Amino acid sequence: MEQSELIEKINLLRKEKNAVIMAHYYQEGAIQDIADMIGDSLALAQWATKTTADILVVCGVHFMGETAKILSPHKKVMVPDMNAGCSLADSCKAEDFEAFIKQHPDHTVISYVNTTAAVKALTDVVVTSTNARKIVDQFPQDAKLIFGPDRNLGDYINKISGRNMVLWNGACHVHEQFSVEQLVSLKKQYPEAKVLAHPECKNVVLMLADYIGSTQALLNYATESNDTTFLIATESGIIHEMQKRNPSKTFIPIPPVDSTCGCNNCQYMRLNTLEKIYECLKNETPEILVNEAIRVKAVKPILKMLEMSK
Ligand code: 13P
Ligand code: SF4
Repeated sequence: MEQSELIEKINLLRKEKNAVIMAHYYQEGAIQDIADMIGDSLALAQWATKTTADILVVCGVHFMGETAKILSPHKKVMVPDMNAGCSLADSCKAEDFEAFIKQHPDHTVISYVNTTAAVKALTDVVVTSTNARKIVDQFPQDAKLIFGPDRNLGDYINKISGRNMVLWNGACHVHEQFSVEQLVSLKKQYPEAKVLAHPECKNVVLMLADYIGSTQALLNYATESNDTTFLIATESGIIHEMQKRNPSKTFIPIPPVDSTCGCNNCQYMRLNTLEKIYECLKNETPEILVNEAIRVKAVKPILKMLEMSK
């Protein structure tokens, strides 16, 4: 089917079924262009609480669909490809995380949103990369805190907030893969360029960055800055919106180690396609379902996050 025909069919179905398409910035450009809303993981969660649609098609990875379902249990929530997982969420199994928490009694548990519903159910407050600093800052300086599962984000927050949170040893395979060699070489090639990095990147990359922030923060920075050339150390899907908002600026993706391709894509995010969105709207599957006992526990730390990030 031609892309224009596919989009026409998607448009008819979403209208007929009162459905909305929510897309993360790491989706392919064609999906971002047809979405009813695009955002980072915090914006997607906030939007899930506000929309009056009956069906949410979450174009992102599984935990993003799950977060939307936890917040909107009476809506039908779908992710176009159920295999869209997340290596970071996978690095933190609920039973292992529970044992880790038991090893650190009296600690408050802070979990990054990149976790399963079962891990969120063990958590006191969820954070995203956009609000992690703001939320951690609301705890007393001497509070005993556990932070999981991203060790790079946790280490970065520890450094900037003068904390000593106990960190779970997990990471995102995409953000850990940026080639420092290529970054240094690109910096030489474009000496005027500013390096923008997501805090899930390794410390050595963050040390070379001019600005560190969540996906949304990097987009805002690039848009508001007077600089015109940027080297991007996060999933390259964000460059689509950066370029759209800033047509005269230049955005260069930093490549991963061991790759012939010039950019760093999350293969899970890229499993979603326009075809799968169409199939998903037509057949109303695959649907995200969350065990109710887990959901009632998992919703509390997410609502706490939404409250603390106001
Ligand atoms: P954001 O919170 O910046 O949207 O990041 C989500 C994510 O999956 C990063 O890899
Ligand atoms: Fe997970 Fe990394 Fe992909 Fe984000 S980029 S969804 S953290 S694997």
